[in-house]
Amino acid sequence: MKKVLVTGGTGYIGSHTVVELLNSGKEVVIVDNLANSKPDVVDRIKKITGKDVKFYNIDYLDREKLEKVFEENEIESVINFAGFKAVGESVKEPLKYYHNNVSGAIVLLETMQKYNVKKFIFSSSATVYGAQGNGKCIETMKRGETTNPYGTTKSIIEKILEDLYFADNEWDIALLRYFNPVGAHESGLIGEDPKGIPNNLMPFIMKVANKEIDHLNIFGNDYKETKDGTCARDFIHVVDLAIGHIKVLDKLDKEKSGIFVYNLGTGNPYTVQEMVDTFIRVNNVDVPYVYAARREGDLPVLYSDASKAKEEIGWVAKKTLEDMCRDAWNFVLKNN
Ligand code: UD1
Repeated sequence: MKKVLVTGGTGYIGSHTVVELLNSGKEVVIVDNLANSKPDVVDRIKKITGKDVKFYNIDYLDREKLEKVFEENEIESVINFAGFKAVGESVKEPLKYYHNNVSGAIVLLETMQKYNVKKFIFSSSATVYGAQGNGKCIETMKRGETTNPYGTTKSIIEKILEDLYFADNEWDIALLRYFNPVGAHESGLIGEDPKGIPNNLMPFIMKVANKEIDHLNIFGNDYKETKDGTCARDFIHVVDLAIGHIKVLDKLDKEKSGIFVYNLGTGNPYTVQEMVDTFIRVNNVDVPYVYAARREGDLPVLYSDASKAKEEIGWVAKKTLEDMCRDAWNFVLKNN
């Protein structure tokens, strides 16, 4: 049976997507160097799905080893989640980010080309929109100015993929712009488990609720653009996001070739304050917080127009903010 190759398949979004791929009857091969994940994720994926998955502990920049994966498996499509994602670190170590994310994607695409595999889904980010309008992002908007090397890698790879399709329109490509993925699989077996002190809101809340960090800083409560002065984001449950990939893969199978761009978000912005309050209420835990200065580079509001994915691939995010908070905390409780 033809297989889906998932790079970064033991990571946060990757592992949830592998689960949904297996649930939908696909055979999956994971390539991951465990740079930001743990090896037992593979066993946990098997436990959740009751299905087997092949795992290669290799770096996708290692061309020789990557080619071996294509030799040993009949790969039909590739979903690329491999990549570094810490915004602050990317500012300090831009070369590390450009090398891993951009060079890695190029090695992967060249290898695909060599083995005549041309179906590709790329994990992009809403960050490619930059600051435009009132923060509502629609796919017809041009990519904007990115504010950090991490975001720029996403923008560059999107452009590379457009050029690749222009040069050879046998490619069948999807660019998926994720908004703010949070939550975890309801089993509590997989979830977001960043190494070190987290940068993103939900992992930070989880560590504070678990008393590993004494309080949360809410960065800015004086934004005039939002109802309570804190920033607003389009938080999306990671399982909804993962299911989006299955729908996109179906679309690519149907279309045979093309380049397609989709926002994967709920379309509903919630503020940081609403997120924190909901987490406290739903889980009945304490999350001490203080209002701190604005964080440099933050946009007041960023959310999706989610109508294109609904109309074209029949995908809508179903889970609520409560589900996101409950499942995130369940993951902490099950792994303490
Ligand atoms: C960031 C990146 C985005 C990336 C995403 C996931 C930018 C501008 N944004 O999104 O590209 O895809 O991370 O890695 O590059 N907050 C606090 N206290 C905290 C942490 C966060 O108040 O301790 C607030 C932030 O100010 C922000 C909101 O929570 O308003 C969400 O922050 P975060 O989770 O870091 O995501 P983004 O910055 O939206």
